Amino acid sequence: MRILTGLQPSGKLHVGNYFGAIEPAVRLQELGEAFYFIADYHAMTSSQDPAALRENVRELAVDFLACGLDPSRAVFFRQSAVPEVNELAWILSTVCPMSLLSKCHSYKDKIAQGIAPNHGLFAYPVLMAADILLYDSNQVPVGKDQKQHLEVTRDIAVKLNETFGDDCVVLPEPIIREDTAVVVGLDGRKMSKSYGNTLPIFGEEKPLKKLIMKITTDSTPVEAPKSVENSTILALYKLYASAADYAAMVDDHERGGIGYGDFKRRLADAYWDYYAPMRVRRKDVLADLGYVEQVLAEGAARAREEASKTLIRVRRAVGLL
Ligand code: ADP
Ligand code: TRP
Repeated sequence: MRILTGLQPSGKLHVGNYFGAIEPAVRLQELGEAFYFIADYHAMTSSQDPAALRENVRELAVDFLACGLDPSRAVFFRQSAVPEVNELAWILSTVCPMSLLSKCHSYKDKIAQGIAPNHGLFAYPVLMAADILLYDSNQVPVGKDQKQHLEVTRDIAVKLNETFGDDCVVLPEPIIREDTAVVVGLDGRKMSKSYGNTLPIFGEEKPLKKLIMKITTDSTPVEAPKSVENSTILALYKLYASAADYAAMVDDHERGGIGYGDFKRRLADAYWDYYAPMRVRRKDVLADLGYVEQVLAEGAARAREEASKTLIRVRRAVGLL
């Protein structure tokens, strides 16, 4: 079974990225042949800053390794180190209806945010389909926000197979973690860089804990019972606490008599402890950036081997060979 996922190098990893993408990827590398890549071509659709791109790619590589990506199990590479993906994207684009792309939420959202509607942004899901289909991926772990892109990928795959033969490409399955499908941000909306409500996973203790103290709460007085359903603190705490500690905080909400400040401190401690082993590993990785380069180079070589096999098969099917 091949498991594949890509992550955009778009800044500091936050808790939403971690539980939506990194943690499932690290867990799944035990269960099959994992292909994980840094989606640098995709990042170019929303930011054109060469220095930032280089820095973000390096940072994501370091952080992914720190979070437990194991290069002896997973093939880890930069998307752009396998330029074959562009050829497959082109082939896919010739069977992909415009209507499939114009209905994509992510495209519409980005335009609404004021990002210029360039062709790359519009064609983003086609490149993503190429990422997935190029490696004959069976399972693709992603956050809920990527669900539609996976549907587009499957639609394109079906179309390609209908047009050129059933065994042209493998139909992938999305894996969406329902329990942490959408991690809430500090203001109670979905955690996202574009909302400025993120909690990074790496950084200095004081400022990070301070961010947790800024979580938006209602004005229920200390003595009164507090809403469990609407509690951003509880939603985040669930990600870090044992079942017993979580149940205790739910009780404390329902009983009243404890203020939000106390809940936030418990959350801050649980969060900080959770990432402790990863912080240690990150320090080691940062001390040896040559190792990171080597991992990515070996991953790219392995990925290209697979990519060229698929591409030969697809080229034959469509008549380019
Ligand atoms: P952002 O919304 O901050 O720009 P990205 O779109 O770069 O984050 O997402 C990177 C990865 O992290 C994707 O796989 C996405 O599904 C996942 N992800 C991002 N935010 C969340 C969230 N709040 N909950 C769950 N997964 C998320
Ligand atoms: N679009 C994904 C995101 O923003 C990143 C990505 C690119 C991806 N190609 C992929 C994820 C292929 C899974 C499979 O998070």
